[in-house]
Amino acid sequence: MFPRKQTPPIPLASQRVVDDEKPYYDSKNKQPHLINLNNPHLRYTAILFLFLFAWLLVLLFWFPPTTTTTTNNVATDHHQLPLHKPQNIITHKAKPASVPVPTCSGGVSVYVYDLPAEFNVGLLQDCRHLNIYTDMCPHVANCGLGQPISNVMGSGSASETSSWFATHQFIGEMIFHARMENHPCRTLKPHRADLFYVPFYGGLHASSKFRESNLTERDALAVKLVDYIQGQPWWRRNQGRDHFMALSRTAWDFMRTTDGPDFGANCLLNLPAAKNMSVLTVERQPWQGDNQHGMPYPSYFHPSSYQEVVTWQNRMRQSDRPHLFSFIGAPRKGLEKAAIRDELIKQCGESTRCELLQCVSINGGSNKCHEPSEVLNAMSRSEFCLQAPGDSFTRRSTFDSVLAGCIPVFFSRHTAYTQYAWFLPEDVKTYSVFIDEKSEASKRIEEELLKIPREKVEKMRETVIRLIPRLTYAHPNATDVGFMDAVDVAIAALAKHTKTNKLLNIQY
Ligand SMILES: *[C@@H]1O[C@H](CO)[C@@H](O)[C@H](O)[C@H]1NC(C)=O
Ligand SMILES: *[C@@H]1O[C@H](CO)[C@@H](O)[C@H](O)[C@H]1NC(C)=O
Ligand SMILES: *[C@@H]1O[C@H](CO)[C@@H](O)[C@H](O)[C@H]1NC(C)=O
Repeated sequence: MFPRKQTPPIPLASQRVVDDEKPYYDSKNKQPHLINLNNPHLRYTAILFLFLFAWLLVLLFWFPPTTTTTTNNVATDHHQLPLHKPQNIITHKAKPASVPVPTCSGGVSVYVYDLPAEFNVGLLQDCRHLNIYTDMCPHVANCGLGQPISNVMGSGSASETSSWFATHQFIGEMIFHARMENHPCRTLKPHRADLFYVPFYGGLHASSKFRESNLTERDALAVKLVDYIQGQPWWRRNQGRDHFMALSRTAWDFMRTTDGPDFGANCLLNLPAAKNMSVLTVERQPWQGDNQHGMPYPSYFHPSSYQEVVTWQNRMRQSDRPHLFSFIGAPRKGLEKAAIRDELIKQCGESTRCELLQCVSINGGSNKCHEPSEVLNAMSRSEFCLQAPGDSFTRRSTFDSVLAGCIPVFFSRHTAYTQYAWFLPEDVKTYSVFIDEKSEASKRIEEELLKIPREKVEKMRETVIRLIPRLTYAHPNATDVGFMDAVDVAIAALAKHTKTNKLLNIQY
């Protein structure tokens, strides 16, 4: 299940051969006792039989080709392998151990469109108005990583803290873009490309237009983008099937419906061209989003090397967790799907085993939920982190909790299970707890969590901690990070998905 082991099991292959030789020699030594026959004909047959049998053993144990290759792959590329079905994505041949792999994993070539600035970086000039609720200027800094944080949970050393930023939850598209520009899988030759990345800052643009009442005006840039991209020669080759976007807001923000209230969404994902593309989004529409694929919300950790990740993982393994569970969030008013939040706040407040971090700013003061250190600190001191739906099904908090080695507890299947299939294990019980928000169990969360055996909790936490690299956005300026981060996992999965789609098209 988890091929990315911490210590490469290099000697496994050779050990296996040596071990397996033993029974062969043993059986050979015993042969004289078995051949105790007077009939020469029978003896001849027996010897022939034994010879053939021995030969079979030699074949079996001296040439175990598949085992050896697989083991070598695990040994050398342990940090490169994706979570499930690694053979489908990564096709590295076995390489000598301890040599880092600086090349593009899986050999996928991605062409990055050089879009007119109005579709991405040009939007940043008006960063104060990119989001109707908040000034985005501090958040778009450093390629979208935001402002560096100097003191994460008391770790003061400069080298360690340079990978930590107060990253905004809806900024993933900028980080994705920056990372793709430096990515080893990037190709400048479109005729060589397997995938075409359309770096549209659609989420930032959408959030700048939520209050635009003129719908033509609100949709204008999305329509213009689609016109532009359809006019490209590389679009026509596969009608856009090999094109993709990465949008760091929920799909709901791009799928305006005519029934129901207007939340400010535009029409981007309703446009036929967008439907031909693959769309990465932090929250897919679970029922209509066939071409949508969940990608992680960015958290605060943007490492440049695998060593940094391992150091952090070990720290979270050793973290003292006096609290059984914690809840970080604010009540939501008038949202039916967030009703569970009031219940969680109540239960957490009443339990001595729960840490509650209320997200309310008192008298306009700073809100603790926006302090990465406060959030990570609370999470790293808890065994379980409650993840209630908020304004929509998904939460950035899910990814913060994984980063803190805190086992997420979900109350809706759409908070993670129907969203991030490319990033999370198929067997959801290995890394999370599900308590249906409509069930009786949701009325007694503490009791439910206490039921889980100690060893099970330890095992789940280890699984969660091993998910950290693939849910992390590596530092965009690091070209050879030495592990598969969220962008790498997305590209590998997109390549596989596109290939399958093309094959399906041929069958029409
Ligand atoms: C990456 O490097 C470029 C060029 O040196 C620099 O302008 C940019 O700010 C760097 N990005 C980050 C996030 O540090
Ligand atoms: C909406 O915007 C479009 C394009 O900017 C403009 O042509 C149209 O007149 C506007 N409609 C209204 C009702 O203001
Ligand atoms: C989408 O793909 C279909 C073929 O699957 C094609 O007929 C159609 O023209 C494409 N749409 C656009 C906007 O390219």
